[in-house]
Amino acid sequence: MMNSSISPFYLLSCLIVLLLVPVPSRSADPDSLQDFCVADLNASITVNGFPCKPASKVNLNDFFFDGLTKEGNTANIFGSSITPANVLSFPGLNTLGIAINRVDYAKGGINPLHSHPRATESGVIIKGKVLVGFVTTQNVYYSKVLGPGEVFVIPKGLVHFQKNVGKGKALAFTVFNGQLPGVVLLPTNLFASKIPNDVLTQTFQVNDAVVNGIKSKFGS
Ligand code: GLV
Ligand code: MN
Repeated sequence: MMNSSISPFYLLSCLIVLLLVPVPSRSADPDSLQDFCVADLNASITVNGFPCKPASKVNLNDFFFDGLTKEGNTANIFGSSITPANVLSFPGLNTLGIAINRVDYAKGGINPLHSHPRATESGVIIKGKVLVGFVTTQNVYYSKVLGPGEVFVIPKGLVHFQKNVGKGKALAFTVFNGQLPGVVLLPTNLFASKIPNDVLTQTFQVNDAVVNGIKSKFGS
């Protein structure tokens, strides 16, 4: 039973405080404020995300995307291919807090060490046998070999990879709780950027020749 000595003013104050206390969001992107906001990728104004196309210009094709139907080209040094359906390729995703990738792996191919600064990733293996691994901020390594129908999760921002350990090609689809998860691809981020050699040699405790050898593989 409610204590009649508690004043309505006190209750109201508690409610206001509760509403103002920031509640941690469970999604990576902010919640939608309307049914949809198809991205106008060419808008001259910039906002966090993209401005909405006028409703009169929204059409069926803004909500469907067939870009993931085709196998990606895995003829590269890593033997893997990512085909993204994020807000840039599929503007209907704008403000909806979700994206999806198709990941193709050649035999022995690797989706190399990388992280997504803006989203958690989950994935399902469709074909083949894939070693999925990630490492925590405490340097604890988790990994497992997965087959068709098996699912994994990579907590937001953690470094991870997948490697095809089966006898043929492999295929996975990955989803993100963000419309543009971003990718920090470690080999190119570190060795194809303009980070000076002395920073790299000192960071990795190796000499210039080692750094230049790695850089030469990534076209820098
Ligand atoms: C897999 O790690 C992906 O980012 O799609
Ligand atoms: Mn990933």
